[in-house]
Amino acid sequence: MGKGSVTSPALASSAPRAKPPSWRLTAPNDSKVQGLVVSGFANVPSAQALFLCCDWPDDPNRVGGGAWLNELQLVAPITGAEKKDAGKKSDPAASLAFTFTGLQKMGLSADALATFSQPFREGMYQEDRLRRLGDRVSEKWQDTVISGGPRWSGNVPQRNVADVPKQLWERTLLDVGSPSEKPEQEWTTDITVHALLVLYEASEQAALDWARKVEERLLPCGVKVVHRLPLELLPDNGFGREHFGFADGISQPIPFEEEEDPQAPLLVMSDGSRVKKDKWHSVPLGEILIGHTNAHHEKAPGPFVAAEDKASASGLEPSGAPDGLLNFGLNGSYLVVRELRQYVGAFWNSLEENAARIRAHDPGATHVTAEWLAERVIGRTIDGHLLCPAGPMKPDQYGLPENSFGFKKADPDSLGCPAGSHVRRANPRDGLAKDMASATTLLNAANNHRILRRGRKYGKPPAQRTVDDGAERGLLFMCLNTDIARQFEFVQQTWVLNRNFATLFDETDPLIGPKGGFTIQEKPLRRIVDVKTFIQLAGGDYFFLPSMPALRYLAKL
Ligand code: HEM
Repeated sequence: MGKGSVTSPALASSAPRAKPPSWRLTAPNDSKVQGLVVSGFANVPSAQALFLCCDWPDDPNRVGGGAWLNELQLVAPITGAEKKDAGKKSDPAASLAFTFTGLQKMGLSADALATFSQPFREGMYQEDRLRRLGDRVSEKWQDTVISGGPRWSGNVPQRNVADVPKQLWERTLLDVGSPSEKPEQEWTTDITVHALLVLYEASEQAALDWARKVEERLLPCGVKVVHRLPLELLPDNGFGREHFGFADGISQPIPFEEEEDPQAPLLVMSDGSRVKKDKWHSVPLGEILIGHTNAHHEKAPGPFVAAEDKASASGLEPSGAPDGLLNFGLNGSYLVVRELRQYVGAFWNSLEENAARIRAHDPGATHVTAEWLAERVIGRTIDGHLLCPAGPMKPDQYGLPENSFGFKKADPDSLGCPAGSHVRRANPRDGLAKDMASATTLLNAANNHRILRRGRKYGKPPAQRTVDDGAERGLLFMCLNTDIARQFEFVQQTWVLNRNFATLFDETDPLIGPKGGFTIQEKPLRRIVDVKTFIQLAGGDYFFLPSMPALRYLAKL
């Protein structure tokens, strides 16, 4: 299923010459940032995602709640971005992020907790957030969520702002609401997750062995593995493939510095060249890393901690923090995690049925096959090339899928890549502009909502794509951003699930939205396909991915 080379021979003008250079951080900042930010560890094909729970009673005055991180460091040191070879060879790598309740449980002070962004403090499951993510509406889980609701989350308690110190939310201008607000959430997930540790290894067995060692080490500290997912990349000529068979991880934002110091740039390309502003994919570094200038020309706001000895000894810096505080968020990020179960049989069977129905009504439509429809659902070919009116877009100079394009020029009427396809909704680029004159403005506006995807698939691919073997498989969707509401939630609510996206009416993303219609623009007439629900949320929450100094501080709690 979809095992062909990402660069299909028919499209490649010649064999790939070299790999395109990628961006990285320069010293000394690279040693302050987790490696996951700069790399998806693409050359380390296997991984284990361990969802951890700190299994001790709640106690806001607890001391030693972060001590388990010292034990973890002995068996699974978290990989820093300075490890230039992390992910290049098959060296093991590790990343670690925390839910709001995880930080609370470990004993981070209430003052510090109150300075995190509102979506992170609330978690994914407050009523308003559930509505905008399309997971739960009018107190009912939608059919894009597994039966009975998600299995795991951070279980952030009901919204309760009464204990936020008044002077703190005045000082940091937090929108924490009024202390009289009544609790909203009246349910919890069965599994409470406090931290997500991902261990990347060269083989499935090596990842399993490593996970076992970590589990044994953490158990005496009261930290339990409450859920786990074996992650695979199945690399194929430079890309992983998701379970429906498509090349994934092609289009990503590329950070640049708003105010670069030419003597000491923070960013550099892997071939040593300067990072140039890229019209299509450049975003300010502060869209990915807290504490740096973001798309609103402000320092991406982050949490603060009191400037005590242990904070300065950990390497935390003031960097814009109010007097008496240090910037705990600096060089960290927010990690959105959604375990999305994929129904491969439903996907291919539904598209086979639609193709057969279309051909029965229109015998001339011999080109309409399940593959043809599936490629339109995504908006790219199985091997990742953009669909254009005259056929797939030609590969780039490296023989890889071309990603420097705008829809306004490449496909203004959506006759190649349908207006409502997954890629066109997830990143419309300049495609929502009414004419060429406004294309750049709309492109720049769309680039204010980019996310850096770091997900991997879990479970084995099915033996046959049309046979439902009952096995669980899907994508552990993970993305980094500094403003969850403006980046990830915006993409999900305003583009992916928007029933009136572009010129469309009453339909959503055909890949990740609920079942319904999907319009494929074609000449002389458009075609309407009935898609099923192919993906369901099985668990998820918002995590904080700390910088390396912030991790050292947490270990001292
Ligand atoms: C199981 C669920 C999903 C699958 C199978 C999936 C699959 C894909 C594929 C095949 C591509 C095209 C290749 C690429 O550029 O990487 C893509 C692109 C993308 N997806 Fe998804 N995706 C899923 C969920 C999501 C979710 C939940 C979001 C965010 C709400 C999302 C956002 C994006 C973005 C931003 C792009 C890049 C678009 C571009 O810049 O051209 N995806 N996805």
